Amino acid sequence: MEKSGIFISFEGSEGCGKSTQIQHLADYLIKMQHKVILTREPGGTVIGEQIRMILANQANSMMQLRTEILLFQASRAQLVEELIKPHLAHGYIVLCDRYADSTIAYQGYGYQNIELDQLHSLISFATDGLKPDLTILLDLDVEIGLQRREHGGQVNRLDTYELEFYRRVRAGYLEMARQEPARWVIVDAARPFSQVQNDVRQIVLQRLGTS
Ligand code: TYD
Repeated sequence: MEKSGIFISFEGSEGCGKSTQIQHLADYLIKMQHKVILTREPGGTVIGEQIRMILANQANSMMQLRTEILLFQASRAQLVEELIKPHLAHGYIVLCDRYADSTIAYQGYGYQNIELDQLHSLISFATDGLKPDLTILLDLDVEIGLQRREHGGQVNRLDTYELEFYRRVRAGYLEMARQEPARWVIVDAARPFSQVQNDVRQIVLQRLGTS
């Protein structure tokens, strides 16, 4: 694939403010005349949003871990082919609210039942090997994150993990960032919103070569 855009993913556990931060970043980059597309996982396409509903539905308590893993990959495969690759080819900044690292963090480190190597193979198939150029981890203490989350939003099937699960997810993210420092940047999300936004902007502008 001819690729001239830049692919940036955002990761983090519950209550880190990820979605609002990305929205603000997208608004800012658009104001700066960049071509930007903002998407999310699971979802981001008509097919992906249907898969998201299956994953989130509280009634699907029978869902098996392997089923869940494959559904996340199905949504991802669709997103990569339908939206991410074409926009990168047209020079867009693609901002993605979660990507493959979420599978490693949640279905891998979180559940601890599946070998990470197996997950990496599935991800590689689903994404056709497409990795983000930059991944921003909004890192936050798990308990603070869960407290923040209690103040808003409806609970769905993917929100009902225990504290220890979220601790493993966070540790997993930090481990991935440690292993691949050229791709990951860790931002301390415990600070006020505007400070976090400022850091996120600087990191992205630096990567775009305009600061
Ligand atoms: P979402 O409502 O988008 O919330 P947020 O990103 O703000 O946490 O929920 C997505 C949920 O899906 C979240 O709990 C993480 C989970 N998830 C996985 O477990 N594996 C994955 O591969 C992806 C993309 C998400």
